[in-house]
Amino acid sequence: MSQHFPKDFIWGSATSAYQIEGAWNEDGKGPSIWDVFCLIPGKVHEGDTGAIACNHYHRIAEDVALMKAMGLKAYRFSIAWARILPAGRGAVNQQGIAFYNKLINELLANGIQPWVTLYHWDLPAALEFEIDGWLGKDIADVFTEYAEVCFAHFGDRVKNWITINEAWVVAILGYGHGVFAPGKKSTDLPYVAGHNLLLAHAKAVALYRTKFQPLQLGTIGITNNCDWREPFTNSEVDKAAAQRALEFFLAWFADPVYTGDYPAVMKERLGDRLPTFTDAEKKLLKGSSDFFGLNHYTTMYAVDATNNKEQGSVYGNGGLSADQDVNLSISPDWKLTDMQWAIVPWGCKKLLQWIAERYNNPPIFITENGCAFDDKLVDGKVDDIERVAFFKGYITAIGEAIDTGVNVQGYFIWSLMDNFEWASGYAKKFGIHYVEKDSLNRIPKASAIWYKGVIDANAV
Ligand code: GAL
Repeated sequence: MSQHFPKDFIWGSATSAYQIEGAWNEDGKGPSIWDVFCLIPGKVHEGDTGAIACNHYHRIAEDVALMKAMGLKAYRFSIAWARILPAGRGAVNQQGIAFYNKLINELLANGIQPWVTLYHWDLPAALEFEIDGWLGKDIADVFTEYAEVCFAHFGDRVKNWITINEAWVVAILGYGHGVFAPGKKSTDLPYVAGHNLLLAHAKAVALYRTKFQPLQLGTIGITNNCDWREPFTNSEVDKAAAQRALEFFLAWFADPVYTGDYPAVMKERLGDRLPTFTDAEKKLLKGSSDFFGLNHYTTMYAVDATNNKEQGSVYGNGGLSADQDVNLSISPDWKLTDMQWAIVPWGCKKLLQWIAERYNNPPIFITENGCAFDDKLVDGKVDDIERVAFFKGYITAIGEAIDTGVNVQGYFIWSLMDNFEWASGYAKKFGIHYVEKDSLNRIPKASAIWYKGVIDANAV
């Protein structure tokens, strides 16, 4: 790789609480909607659950030692809301606070910056029962109460906060397709859930900025996910379709944060189905992210489907397609990961340029990028050639985007450890360390060693 990244570029890796912690009901933790969802037959591949996962809850020291050995400068993890507030609000569980204190202190002692996500999909189950989860009118305030507990306990040491991970996934997969917790299927509810997720983000940021940021001096933002959408042909309608697909995917959540409101195309097409923000809410939203958090994995071609709706009715990766009139496809020439996601590094570069242009070149942190392959353990080692090739391709494309002026400031590999991959269970191996469920070994893959080389080569 020829590029050199900026000197203070943040090289990290990421995980989330439900996917690695285990200890689902230990030390006073309350159940989350994922604890419950996993128990419903047919929801998760082979009935897997995150009850034990990578047992990270009991293995902080050795997991942080692995991060240090890899040379990570930063580690992104999420807090399990129900570990801190078992009923979602009210009484604070001191043992939960103690766990995250221990993790944060261990990271800092090893020179690794904690990047903390407040919400990575594991809503306390009590809030689903009592206030209708992300559909409830009080959820944004309840989230802000939880955020305050976190800022107050950890903000003296945590300087990088992410409010919500991938509101799109919560809304579309949790409330549209119903394949993620809480498993609701609807054409309208995703827009209600998405609206409340945005308000929760904005309120938590407002609280941080007024009450904590002046003293704690940290940064706070939201992480959204987006694939790239490439027009399938050069026709004006396909170009417009690709643009529309990006607006229904990323601008749905990023426009409110940068401009205070939803994209015009969503308002026009959805009418009353898209909730509206009051003027006060628009003000709260506009400018509510100190950085642009981006999770990016793949690319698809977009074709206009205005006169061809029947083909556009069902797909998993683009939102509710009938609302967009876009059909998606991939090229047979593109290599696929084991999740069947196409490997297209130039799509990453184009997406970064699209963000820079639309949002006035904000500081971008790629908070997730990575690939699933079913790595084989041979003589105690994993030679994950495909994963190294994937990272080479994507990191090179990111370097090229930086060369064209895009302000990318950090990159986090998904994931540190093979882990519980939501509805796919443990079938897909995503991490740069190999780990079986509750394995006694964390075995570095070739990609982890390669990544250390990249970090060292770009070290200050
Ligand atoms: C993201 C998610 C992660 C991880 C990854 C790979 O959408 O934030 O938790 O599962 O995808 O599928």
